[in-house]
Amino acid sequence: MNILVIGSGGREHALCWKIKQSPQVKRLYCAPGNGGIAQIAECVDIKVDDVPLLLQFALRKQIDLTIVGPEASLVAGVVDAFAAKGLKIFGPSKAASALEGSKVFAKEFMHRRNIPTAVYKVFDDAPKALVFLEKAQFPLVIKADGIAAGKGVYVCADLKEAKLAIDEIMVQKIFGAAGDRIVIEECLQGPEVSVLAVCDGRHFLVLPTAQDYKRIFDDDLGPNTGGMGTFSPSPLVTAEVLDQIITRVIEPTIRGMYQEGNPFKGVLFAGLMLTSDGPKALEFNVRFGDPETQCILPRLNGDIVDIFQAACDGELNAIEVKWDEYSCVCVVIASGGYPGKYQNGFPINGLDKIKDEETVVFHAGTKNDGGVLVTNGGRVMGIAALGEGLEAARTKAYNGVSKLSFDHMFFRRDIASKILKEKPAYGHN
Ligand code: AMP
Ligand code: GLY
Repeated sequence: MNILVIGSGGREHALCWKIKQSPQVKRLYCAPGNGGIAQIAECVDIKVDDVPLLLQFALRKQIDLTIVGPEASLVAGVVDAFAAKGLKIFGPSKAASALEGSKVFAKEFMHRRNIPTAVYKVFDDAPKALVFLEKAQFPLVIKADGIAAGKGVYVCADLKEAKLAIDEIMVQKIFGAAGDRIVIEECLQGPEVSVLAVCDGRHFLVLPTAQDYKRIFDDDLGPNTGGMGTFSPSPLVTAEVLDQIITRVIEPTIRGMYQEGNPFKGVLFAGLMLTSDGPKALEFNVRFGDPETQCILPRLNGDIVDIFQAACDGELNAIEVKWDEYSCVCVVIASGGYPGKYQNGFPINGLDKIKDEETVVFHAGTKNDGGVLVTNGGRVMGIAALGEGLEAARTKAYNGVSKLSFDHMFFRRDIASKILKEKPAYGHN
């Protein structure tokens, strides 16, 4: 088979790495890829949202299966365009991508389908939102409706912060049309977990749970990032909690989308908070998580291409998947300054010193510059390691990190550490 992966991050490197292990693969392409992906796939310089060029490429190279990484491609309608030409592609249609593309759509859907989530109100007018806020109880959360590069969510401690959020989103329009509407919702408390499921429209396969570290600094301080590290599985998600998440959130979402004429194919990624009232959905993404994927795929025993094929063919119910008992920890190393300003182009040293078979390096912002691997993005790479339990995996991942260096390299030192010491707030016996 000829396979095309769309994207250029650590998530796509992990996908390519796993796909490459399949004996079914003849040629593997990635658009546009990165310095690490280029070592295992043929990278093609096409932007992730350039649907006409991606389609032209897939037809010309007789691509048998396409896997979509980022939401930008999905929201641009890549799945609809490929499907219209009879090409097999793994990802949700543009209409089904609204679960991520519009917070208003997602909240109204959850409300209709009785899926536990924060109580909310929708506003399309700043003065009306301000009147509501004058009488509201704080803290509360304000969200831009559309995709805002992960920055459209404001957790507001008081009226002053809320007014600022309204001003940025609806008056200054810093996210453009994504801020035409907003959701104001109750602020939930509790630990956050991610549950991802591969879906075929009617059936779904739940992947191992993961937890993500969103803030740039240790102890969850500083601004939000795309994710500075992950681990899998989450000890907070006991079998009982997972069962609640599946029966109350995942299953009704898949059934609801199907019944409403928008069958969901692709990865449903539920961001959840484990509250004292049980798990509640904070948001949906319609794609693999980054860096969740980097700590989930190393735990997959078996052929990922079989899973994607079954999902495209509506046959996920017929497939059995085995997961490694080992835990996985992924530590992201970033360019100093990220998520603000940073510089690119620094040579990356030490990759040849990572020899442990259970440690994998997934490149994100890297590129090959005349034979030298250099930094080329905020998140540079993720070092993922398998171990017997989170502590062992964490030790190995940080051991890998210690071998690497580049100018202004930065990483969090507490990935998967607190979880080992803290008593879980919820869900444990
Ligand atoms: P989202 O992009 O919707 O996942 O929001 C980003 C982050 O904002 C989440 O990971 C949470 O930490 C926080 N958040 C979102 N919604 C809520 C909520 N209703 N209550 C508390 N925190 C929230
Ligand atoms: N790590 C969170 C995300 O992929 O959105």
